[in-house]
Amino acid sequence: GDLDKGDFDHFMLKEIFEQPKTISDTYRGRIRPNQNDIVLGGLIDVFPKITAANRIIIIGCGTSWHAALVAEYLIEEYARVPVEVEYASEFRYRKPIIHEGDVVIAISQSGETADTLAALKMAKSKGALILGICNVVGSSIARETDAGVYTHAGTEIGVASTKAFTAQVTVLSLLAFKLAKERSEIDQEFYEMLIGEMLAIPEKLETILVGHPYIKTVAEKYKDAVNALYLGRGYLFPVALEGALKLKEISYIHAEGYAAGEMKHGPIALVDDNLPVVVVSAKDSYYEKVVSNIQEVKARKGNIIAVVTEGDNGLRKMADDLFEVPESHPAVAALLTVVPLQLFAYYIAVMRGCDVDQPRNLAKSVTVE
Ligand code: G6P
Repeated sequence: GDLDKGDFDHFMLKEIFEQPKTISDTYRGRIRPNQNDIVLGGLIDVFPKITAANRIIIIGCGTSWHAALVAEYLIEEYARVPVEVEYASEFRYRKPIIHEGDVVIAISQSGETADTLAALKMAKSKGALILGICNVVGSSIARETDAGVYTHAGTEIGVASTKAFTAQVTVLSLLAFKLAKERSEIDQEFYEMLIGEMLAIPEKLETILVGHPYIKTVAEKYKDAVNALYLGRGYLFPVALEGALKLKEISYIHAEGYAAGEMKHGPIALVDDNLPVVVVSAKDSYYEKVVSNIQEVKARKGNIIAVVTEGDNGLRKMADDLFEVPESHPAVAALLTVVPLQLFAYYIAVMRGCDVDQPRNLAKSVTVE
C-alpha cells in the first residue's frame, strides 16, 4: 500500500517506481476506451467557459509550479490561449489584473499550501473561474475551487515530489489536448496521435526504470559535486528546473536549472572541469540548439550528463554520461525525461548519507506562510 515502503529502501524510490501506474491511474477513465476523446468529468460543466477563456493563469509552488510551466508551453502551443504561470506567493501580493473571463488554475499536491490557497481566494473574489488540480481528495484547495480534476497519484510520502509531479503533468496535458481540440486548433487525427502518445508513456517509463542500476553508477561519479547546472529548452526547460530542485532538496548540492539559451548570460561563467552539467534533450525543434550548448560546455571542460532519445548517437559522442529515454512526441517528453533525473538525485542523496524522505528544513506541505 501507499503507507509502507514494501521492498524499497525509501518512500521516494518507491514513489518513483510507481509512476507507470500513477500516470495510467490518472488518465484512466479520462481517455475514452476507443481512444478518440478525452473527458475530464470534473470540468464538463465549466468546459465551455474554459474554451472561451481570454487568458489562463496557473499558480502553484515548488514542484507544482514546474508542472504549471509545462502546461504553459502545451496550452499556448496547441490550444493557442495566452497562459501566465506564477508563484502563488508572488501572485497573491502584487495586485494582479484579473478579469471575469479569466480562468485561474491552482496546482497543488497537498491542496493545503497556504500561499496557493490564499492566491486562489483572492482570484475568486475578482470573479475569475477557479479550477484546482490536487492530489489529496477533499483538501482545502479542492473545496475552494469551482471545479477541478484530481491527480490519482495516491499518497505521496517522500517530501520531494515525484509521482505527484508526473500525475499533474498528465492532467495538464489532457487538459491542453482537449482544449486544443475544443478550440479547433488541432484536428481529430493529431488529437488522437497525442492521446496515443500519452497512453504509451507508462510502458516507456518501465524501460527507463529498468535502467536504474546504470543511473546509480553515474550518480556514483558525481556524488561529490559541489554545484550542478541543469539545462533544457521548450518543454524540457521545466524538466531542467525540476531536476535541479530534486538534487538540491535531497542531496543539498547547490543546483540550478536554467533555460539552455540563457546559459551564455551567466551560468557559463561557472563551467569548469568540476561542474556537472545535466542537459535534457529530445528529438524536438530545439535539438540543434541544445547540441551547440553542449559544445560550449565541452569547450570549457564541463562534464556533460545528457538525457537523450534512445539511439541518439550524435550526443553519445559528445556527452560524458548518457541517460537514454524512449522516443516520444515532444508534447509528452517531460513525463519521460524527468524520471532519470529523479533517480539520479535519489542515488546521489543516498550515497551522501542524506535523509532522502525527510530532507532537513523542508516540509511536505507548507500550510503557514
Ligand atoms: C513543499 C514541498 C514540495 C511541493 C511544494 C508545493 O515545498 O516540499 O514538494 O512541491 O510544497 O506543495 P503542493 O502540495 O502545493 O503541491
